[in-house]
This record gives sequence, C-alpha cells and structure tokens, in this order.
Amino acid sequence: MTLLRYAVIGDPIAHSLSPVMQNAALRELGLNASYEAFHVTLEQLPEFVESARKNLAGFNITVPHKKHILPYLDAIACEAELAGSVNTVTVSGGKLSGTSTDGAGLERALSEEFGFRVHGGKIAFVGCGGAAQAAAVHFAVSGAESITVINRTPEKAQALTELIRTHFPAVRTAFAPLDDPERCRALLKPCGVVIQCTSVGLKPEDPSPFDVSLLPDGICCYDTIYKPTAFLKAAAARGLRNARGFGMLLHQGACSLEIWTGRTAPVEVMRKALLSAAK
Ligand code: ATR
Repeated sequence: MTLLRYAVIGDPIAHSLSPVMQNAALRELGLNASYEAFHVTLEQLPEFVESARKNLAGFNITVPHKKHILPYLDAIACEAELAGSVNTVTVSGGKLSGTSTDGAGLERALSEEFGFRVHGGKIAFVGCGGAAQAAAVHFAVSGAESITVINRTPEKAQALTELIRTHFPAVRTAFAPLDDPERCRALLKPCGVVIQCTSVGLKPEDPSPFDVSLLPDGICCYDTIYKPTAFLKAAAARGLRNARGFGMLLHQGACSLEIWTGRTAPVEVMRKALLSAAK
C-alpha cells in the first residue's frame, strides 16, 4: 500500500498543532498515511508546490500563505475564491484543488460551544484578515441573517461587507471602525455572537483589542486564537459566554481530513490529541 503523504505549510510553522491532531486521526482511520509540518517561506512556495504535485496527497496552508497559494492552484472552490483564502489543497494526478475549511470549522465550533446556528444568525466580526474573510463568506453561504464587521482600518471592513452584499444580497451587512465605540455598540446590540479575528492576543501580554463593555448582555464571545486571551478573560469577567479558538482549529482540521479521505473524521481522537499537545 503506498504511503499517502499530507502536510501543513506556513512561516512560522514550528508551533503548529496540526501534525499531532492529523496523525492521530490517520492512525485511528487505519490509513497508511503521514502528516508533516514544512517551514515554507514565500520565496520557497513555487518549489514546494512543484514537489507537492508529485509527492503529496494533500496539504493545509496556514499564515501567511492562505492567499499566496491561490495562483498555483488548478481549481478553487467558489467560496474560497470569493474570500481569497485557501487552507486545504487536494492533490490528484498532479493537479491541485483548493478550498477553505476555516468557515465550516468555525461554524461547527460555534454550534458545539454555544448551540449557535449560523443559518438565520446575527454575527459580528472584530478584525477582517484572512480568517474573518473566509468565515464571513462561508456564513453568508450558510444563510446568516446579518454580518457586521468591525476593524481598525474601516476601509477593509467596508470592502468585506461590500463583497458580501454584492454576492449575497439577502444578508444584511454593516461595518464600523474599531475606534468608534458608539457605532460599535449600536451595531453589536442585535448580534448573537461576536468573533474576535484580529491577531491581538497571539502574544500572552496582548491587551483586548476591543472594549467588552460595548457588548450587549447575552452575546456569545468567540476568539479565533486557541490560547486564552485578554478579550475572553474580560468577556468572562462580564459574565458573557465565551470560548477560545480550540474548536475552530479542531473542526477545520476535521473538515480537511474528510475532504482528503472521504471518511468521517474521528473528532474525539483529534480533540484528545490536540488537548494533550496544547497543554
Ligand atoms: P489573518 O489572515 O490571520 O486573519 P491578518 O490578515 O494579518 O491575519 O489580519 C489581522 C487582523 O488583525 C486585521 O483585521 C488587523 O486590522 P487592520 O486591518 O486594521 O490591519 C487586525 N489587527 C492587527 N493588529 C491590530 C491591533 N493592534 N489593533 C486592532 N486590530 C489589529
């Protein structure tokens, strides 16, 4: 039986928990397969892609290459093309097809953590980088009622809401600059969930990028960062339901594995592997 090789690429990549989670899953499924992490710089991307065409069955892409990978792909799923972000590539006959499982992973995580349903849901994003773009487009596809984007640079928030309005006219959209607290408060009032998507919180000493006193009572707070952050601590101190990005990490990986293997991902095995590696 030939060995199926999978990988994750990024720069940096040493911190990635994906190999632990995916290797546990591949073992559980009884597949003759491996999953490795490769440190790939932007300059090394063309060389990596050529090698992947011959040697890999699939790979994940993490920061900063989720956009950079697009020109190398032979096919891109509509949703990923719209968001301009790909985190999962399948290799077949030397051809590369890309998609994003970030949005689907986040959707599963919100359901698991809060019982929150994206379909018909009112959702706010703080930050609008690659992860927020992929998730916002996915949520529009999934039938969100409204999508609000708050960002330090309001032009980027506006561009994301315009993209959604153009392609999904039934979804209500709004945006606000992070430094306009009264507009943020008004836009957040009807929302059921707020998703922290900025990179603030990656360093343990980072403050919350956002004043949680602007949040309405009863809103669920999700942070895409998988370690505890100042944002979540402040949300918990206010008595708001909150969850860190662990579930998103888990479920985006589970979705990738399902795309590659056509099998149901052993989510509990993956969760256990992740939890012990993240300690
Ligand atoms: P990713 O692709 O991982 O989501 P990214 O594209 O670098 O990351 O996006 C980072 C997000 O964090 C952006 O929304 C960024 O805001 P700007 O669009 O204004 O750059 C946000 N961000 C980064 N540092 C920030 C800070 N100190 N305060 C508030 N927002 C910040």
